Amino acid sequence: MSHLIAPSILTANFLDLGNEVEMLNKSQADWLHFDVMDGVFVPNLTFGFHIIRQVKEISIKPIDAHLMIVEPERHLEAFREAGVDKITVHYETCPHLHSTIQKIKSLGMDAGVAINPHTPVAVLEDILPDLDLVLNMTVNPGFGAQKFIEHSYIKIRQLREMIDNSSSKALIQVDGGVGTDNLIDLRDAGVDCFVVGNTIFASDNPLEMANRLKNL
Ligand code: DX5
Ligand code: ZN
Repeated sequence: MSHLIAPSILTANFLDLGNEVEMLNKSQADWLHFDVMDGVFVPNLTFGFHIIRQVKEISIKPIDAHLMIVEPERHLEAFREAGVDKITVHYETCPHLHSTIQKIKSLGMDAGVAINPHTPVAVLEDILPDLDLVLNMTVNPGFGAQKFIEHSYIKIRQLREMIDNSSSKALIQVDGGVGTDNLIDLRDAGVDCFVVGNTIFASDNPLEMANRLKNL
């Protein structure tokens, strides 16, 4: 399977969001990544159900929602109704992670768990078989255009080994500071899916950059 590219809408031009989504529809990107932030779990506020619902109406790509919010289990039905296909909650916000994952799957969405840079991959060992995706944050969550944390390579290799030695079919996703300079090394370390924000939306030709990242 070739690697997956999930452009992060966070750094798109919101004054022209319709055209940004149409551009991504024409691209070889695989998913649309939505960063939902509540100003509590992370020091930033972004968007919710209304924008996701409107983008879903024109997007031909699956919606991948990254929930950087406390008590995500309270909002799962609403995200499903808004059109989300894949939902990722943070390990650090879910004291009842197993039941939250079961609920996501019972609503017909793919279930993912994200871990912050300081959270060891070992905490996921017992939930791995239930997951469709593990998101290893490669920056501290909250903002786009941050510098990639090099220590992430060690965690990614550990995660790859854990998944390959288990019955889990989970994909490994990374998010934060990904670009043409590190994508190949990350893929060689075991990453399946790349969230990319600034590298795409700050480039002169975002469509071309999305395709270039897909074909690296
Ligand atoms: C950060 C978000 C990321 C971010 C990635 O908390 O989860 O999805 O938008 O953006 P870049 O690729 O610019 O680091
Ligand atoms: Zn994200």
